[in-house]
Amino acid sequence: MKYFELDGKKLSSFQLGTVQLGMKYGLGVDSDKPSEETALKMLDRAMEMGVNNLDTANNYGDSQKVIGHWLLRQKAEGKELPFIITKIGPLKHGSYDILRDDVLFQTEGCRKELSMETLDCLMLHDFEDYEKDADALRKIFEEMKRDGMYRVSGISAYSRHDYGMIAESGFDVTQIPLNVFDWTRIDDGGIRKIADAGMKIFARSTFLQGLVFHTPEDLDPRMAFCIPTVKRWNELCKEFDMEPSVLAMSFILSVPGITCAVLGCDTEKHVELNCEMMDKVKELTKEQMEILHEAFKDTPANVLNPGVWFNHT
Ligand SMILES: NC(=O)c1ccc[n+]([C@@H]2O[C@H](COP(=O)([O-])OP(=O)(O)OC[C@H]3O[C@@H](n4cnc5c(N)ncnc54)[C@H](OP(=O)(O)O)[C@@H]3O)[C@@H](O)[C@H]2O)c1
Repeated sequence: MKYFELDGKKLSSFQLGTVQLGMKYGLGVDSDKPSEETALKMLDRAMEMGVNNLDTANNYGDSQKVIGHWLLRQKAEGKELPFIITKIGPLKHGSYDILRDDVLFQTEGCRKELSMETLDCLMLHDFEDYEKDADALRKIFEEMKRDGMYRVSGISAYSRHDYGMIAESGFDVTQIPLNVFDWTRIDDGGIRKIADAGMKIFARSTFLQGLVFHTPEDLDPRMAFCIPTVKRWNELCKEFDMEPSVLAMSFILSVPGITCAVLGCDTEKHVELNCEMMDKVKELTKEQMEILHEAFKDTPANVLNPGVWFNHT
């Protein structure tokens, strides 16, 4: 496992994404979310294999609840507790008081569901909330920190958002999508801007919802438009002699400024495979990064947006 420092702790560079524990999610949407028993086993296995930080949110179905049950069990058994990142939003706007009440209400809900007095990391889930009321939200977050409701603050964004605004937000961390097929925010200096502001950057979408594991032959026919990208990706994995997960993760950790990757897992097997993968990850050479850049700098927007994948015929 690889680690980084945050809040005086050594945290794993594989941050377990847990939307998959709480609801149907991703390319494999036909399969249901894991049972609570399976989800608890996945959390146990992740901790045993060195993963000690988890990403969740108050709108990931049962994810927070399941984690809360597991945390209670960990505490009862005197076991180590991981660092938990959670998120609130979308928020109610209209006036300062309406916004403040909703932030406090949602944060209280997170504390209850997770059975945590002080949240390790509280993020704003929707960048649009921040765009609407940045000053008010900064003030409310400061007040909550003073009151011991959380320790580390964060903001989550999509690649279309204003990374300059993230850099100036004063939050401690951000979560953004990034994968080997999407160079937009590296090339326009957006990621660099956030890193230069001293923020930690958690990258999600490392596997682009599992796309990196596909071949042109096994893609859903509605995703035929992804074939050229997937074909080139398969060729480069062979050329670099790296498994898809290892190359996808090595890329993320080779991008200057990126702190760690949030990896979603549907099964215990995925947790194990991804922990084993972490030991094979290495920093890519400048030449390898240039080859990847050349291959994927112009990846079509529909390939990068899972939201439209199945709307194509
Ligand atoms: N802040 C936000 O707005 C936001 C938005 C989305 C997600 N997230 C967070 O980010 C996390 C990651 O989500 P993501 O969309 O970025 O997904 P991802 O990590 O890019 O891909 C996860 C998917 O990859 C597949 N997978 C994972 N490990 C695998 C392995 N070893 N072998 C084969 N397939 C494997 C699984 O899909 P299949 O088994 O279905 O193929 C899994 O559902 C989520 O859990 C959530 O915590 C945050």
